[in-house]
Amino acid sequence: MSSNMAAWITAAKAYPLEVKNAPTYTPGPNEVLVRNCAVAINHIDAMTQKLAFLPMSYPAILGQDVAGEVVAVGPGVTRFKKGDRILGHSTLYATQQNRDGAFQQHTIVRTNLASQLPDEISFEAACVVPVGLSTAACALFQNADLGLQLPTLTKPVPTATKAVLIWGGSSSVGCNAIQLSVAAGYEVIATASRHNFDYVRKLGASQVFNHQSPDIVDELVRALAGKVMAGALDCIGFAAATTTATVIQQCEGTRMVLTTLPVPKDVPAGVTVKQVRGDELRDNNVGKAIYEDFLPHALKSRTFVPAPEPMVVGQGLEKLQEAIDLLSKGVSARKVVVMV
Ligand SMILES: NC(=O)c1ccc[n+]([C@@H]2O[C@H](COP(=O)([O-])OP(=O)(O)OC[C@H]3O[C@@H](n4cnc5c(N)ncnc54)[C@H](OP(=O)(O)O)[C@@H]3O)[C@@H](O)[C@H]2O)c1
Repeated sequence: MSSNMAAWITAAKAYPLEVKNAPTYTPGPNEVLVRNCAVAINHIDAMTQKLAFLPMSYPAILGQDVAGEVVAVGPGVTRFKKGDRILGHSTLYATQQNRDGAFQQHTIVRTNLASQLPDEISFEAACVVPVGLSTAACALFQNADLGLQLPTLTKPVPTATKAVLIWGGSSSVGCNAIQLSVAAGYEVIATASRHNFDYVRKLGASQVFNHQSPDIVDELVRALAGKVMAGALDCIGFAAATTTATVIQQCEGTRMVLTTLPVPKDVPAGVTVKQVRGDELRDNNVGKAIYEDFLPHALKSRTFVPAPEPMVVGQGLEKLQEAIDLLSKGVSARKVVVMV
């Protein structure tokens, strides 16, 4: 294998990242080695650099969203071969191993968290998907979470349609949650800022409400009246989780809210609020169900689109610090991306 370079965080809270040589890796069983062409930034990367709240061993290589070409496959791997174009979720924050960091030229990805890409989907478009998709999938489909029925490639025959509330529909997690819920046969009601209404509707939400409206709780309760809730996902956290739970408390059906950040203290009575962990699917049936059985086919048929749109900061590992800083300022319906 050719040499490797990485954007290292050399010590806790070190700034900026430093581009230097990195080891070369050999994939094991159920793993592939990817030559990264595009990687995306997530809030956990920025927060880990800024706050050092995870027990990392330094120097470390951050990042988890990759798209690129397979350059080696592990023993017994048949689903992928050298040269395949793929996207993948490299679960660095679960393993704490540098081979699983995305901010380098080559990354190890587990085969149950990787999907083949159709030729027409670019690497910069594809790399926005994995972490948002995994997080949404864990929240929606794991039995210990909302336990919804899995997405299918043909629109499920409507029985008694159940509804899912997605708070933060234009976020990275939200864009994926909307599409997965619709593909699983649920009606989706979402929130977003007004300028993202059309985008969120295009992803499949039947109705979208402005999260800044002072009457948002009443508006959502009215929209959900007469529907049976399958659950809710708050993609934003804290106050948004409480507001989502306040809505769900007044609805029929499952009174459970998954949230992407720690559970707030003020949860209304009768509602369960649980924090999702977006890499748990690596160890259960949901990883394969999403990355093997659903996504490659859904991308090909365009029934699932990479979302949100990439915001490409530039080319080269040197651009990663600028990209992290940009995400820290906040984005609206965009995912910050660097070409490698
Ligand atoms: N637990 C996990 O495993 C896990 C995994 C992934 C992410 N997360 C966390 O989940 C959160 C979302 O991550 P992400 O990458 O999806 O975020 P993101 O894409 O950066 O979210 C941006 C979106 O947030 C929306 N937003 C901002 N403030 C809002 C509010 N008060 N109410 C509703 N929407 C609001 C904006 O919507 P508008 O522009 O339409 O207003 C914007 O489009 C982050 O805190 C992240 O750390 C956790």
